[in-house]
Amino acid sequence: MRFVKDGLDISKIDDPVFAISRMASADDSPKTVNATIGSLFDEDGKIVAFKSFYDNFDKIDDRLKAKYADSPEGNKEYKEAVEKHLLEGRIKIPHDIIATAGGSGAVSLCLKDFLKEGESVLAPDVAWASYKTMAKEYGLDYQTYDVNEIEDMLSKMQEIATRQDHILVIINSPCHNPTGISYSKEEWRMIIDTASSLDKKVVILDDVAYIDYSYDLTKAHSHFDLFDEIADNVLVAIAFSISKTMTAYGLRLGALITIHKDEEVIKETHNALVRSCRNIWSNTNNAAMIAFSKTIADEAFYKEKAEAIKLLHERAMIFLKEANEVDLKLYRYDEGFFITVKMNDDKMSDEVFKGLIEEHIYTVKVYHGIRIAICSIPKAKLQGLASKIKKVIDNRQNYNQ
Ligand SMILES: Cc1ncc(COP(=O)(O)O)c(C=O)c1O
Repeated sequence: MRFVKDGLDISKIDDPVFAISRMASADDSPKTVNATIGSLFDEDGKIVAFKSFYDNFDKIDDRLKAKYADSPEGNKEYKEAVEKHLLEGRIKIPHDIIATAGGSGAVSLCLKDFLKEGESVLAPDVAWASYKTMAKEYGLDYQTYDVNEIEDMLSKMQEIATRQDHILVIINSPCHNPTGISYSKEEWRMIIDTASSLDKKVVILDDVAYIDYSYDLTKAHSHFDLFDEIADNVLVAIAFSISKTMTAYGLRLGALITIHKDEEVIKETHNALVRSCRNIWSNTNNAAMIAFSKTIADEAFYKEKAEAIKLLHERAMIFLKEANEVDLKLYRYDEGFFITVKMNDDKMSDEVFKGLIEEHIYTVKVYHGIRIAICSIPKAKLQGLASKIKKVIDNRQNYNQ
């Protein structure tokens, strides 16, 4: 007998990342490389928890920790802090900020409230897996573009415009998960120009979950300047998360910023989105909002984060240099938590993934690729990793010939 309504997916949720991560943790061989964990870990293999953030968190009175947020849209100080920290005063046209349950909440709200059931959402082919499962949750048709080819994204937007009144394109830049692509300002200009030229309503959803780990933070925010130039038919939504920014994955706080030329559009969008927040998670973590507002004014935070970025960069350089030497094919990597090895097809990915496990190397399979989470692998374990992966690929290729 089934009580959940028809049409719901009742299969057991199978998160391959958690499963492989558990396998890695259980492997006590000194050779083990756990390349699965998508959180920042230090060189001793421990999760990074920024002292600056948690010191500010710990100073919060227990009664404030216990309290509901001031409103379902988030506390005023938090919204001002997001405006300051993320937008840096770059957006001059009407815009709005609401607090969400993590970056996941922000992305999910957009898919729920901007598209109708049966409509297509456009997302990168190599992508964070939740985009697809969220689309399914809302009965959307899931279309993809080649993450390496801006032209492909633009032509898919144009194609959807021929059959749909609302278009929603997800762009995860800077620091795309899992490739590490960050689109340049020129690429962003092409996206905005194309969206503005369509005779349909376009929502550009920029998922910036990893923006705070860009190697050049000024450059990482510079495309926000272009958002002032959108035409009337375009609304920009930015999904932000404190999970990575503050190393606060468990506190479940993020924000959704909406940008449009017309104040009225911003107001009615705000009302609809806040109703959804109220109806789904009611309100967000009060203490996390307070701690975020305090921490962005704390010099110690920027020092800690700069150290983390430096570490990520050093790790990336070790892997990229060696990959280049052994001719291991990668997706374009500009910056970010992950590097992805290119695979011709998913059958090959499967074989390489299994071959790597035999070598005690635990990775995550993605569409046409194998994801390496450099955010959590100590430098010593990264030395030699690219050659080992290349060897496994070559062995499979020879075997298949
Ligand atoms: C690309 C991307 N976007 C958004 C998120 C949302 O993160 P959270 O819900 O923890 O804020 C993640 C988390 O892994 C992610 O990888």
